[in-house]
Amino acid sequence: MLSVERLEQTLDARPFQYLETTASTNDVAMRWLLDGAPVGSIVTANEQVQGRGRLGRTWYAPPGTALMLSYVLRPAVDDLPYVGMAGAVAVLETIQALGMSGVGLKWPNDVQIDGRKVCGILPEATWQDGTLLGVVLGIGINVRIDFAGTAFAHTAISLEQRVPSLDRAELLAQLAERLDAWTARLSADELFERWRAGLVMLGRPVSIATVTGTITGTAEAVERQGALVVRDAHGVLQRVIAGDIALG
Ligand code: BTN
Repeated sequence: MLSVERLEQTLDARPFQYLETTASTNDVAMRWLLDGAPVGSIVTANEQVQGRGRLGRTWYAPPGTALMLSYVLRPAVDDLPYVGMAGAVAVLETIQALGMSGVGLKWPNDVQIDGRKVCGILPEATWQDGTLLGVVLGIGINVRIDFAGTAFAHTAISLEQRVPSLDRAELLAQLAERLDAWTARLSADELFERWRAGLVMLGRPVSIATVTGTITGTAEAVERQGALVVRDAHGVLQRVIAGDIALG
């Protein structure tokens, strides 16, 4: 059960807001950031009714079934490309620490278990007159969503399909510590190396839907700031900054 009392126990002195229901934890965290929220502050909710996903999608989970949070940070502008990586690596390690195998990353920052999505990540930045004011790092983890009979039955998974009876407040505390550690070292080579090592599609045939069309080929490499390098059917290297990747 998530509750203010339980989160006070697990999050200790960390500033947090818990909402039974909200539109999007990213929106609440963004308002708090602009209002002076300390770095590392967290907004979490039991239910989101207008949760956002990547590429303009929505993100919804029935009440009580997911861990949804937004983490406040104020990175240097040069470190912006690494915020999503930090989120992905922090989630990957938190799940691995539960004893699960088969955990990997789908470029850029989805976390998967045996090829099925368990977590999505949405960093959102706010600017004023060209100055970066801060970022909220939104993270949604499927904890006990029942995907049976849904369109996601074969592509998504919940943590409790592998480890029963998870305590979301405890999970959040474990994740928050890893977020603190990695967001304090955004430009570290070690963060990039861990992210790259987690990527499951490098060296494999892929197809990527981008805003300008679909690119198919072999995922050869990732650049330091996160772009994916794909060798297409003509042998030409294509650099992809954003898109939806699938095994080709
Ligand atoms: C994706 O996979 O497309 C990213 C999903 C991100 C969902 C999280 S849930 C907490 C935070 N608040 C939001 O509105 N979205 C993120």
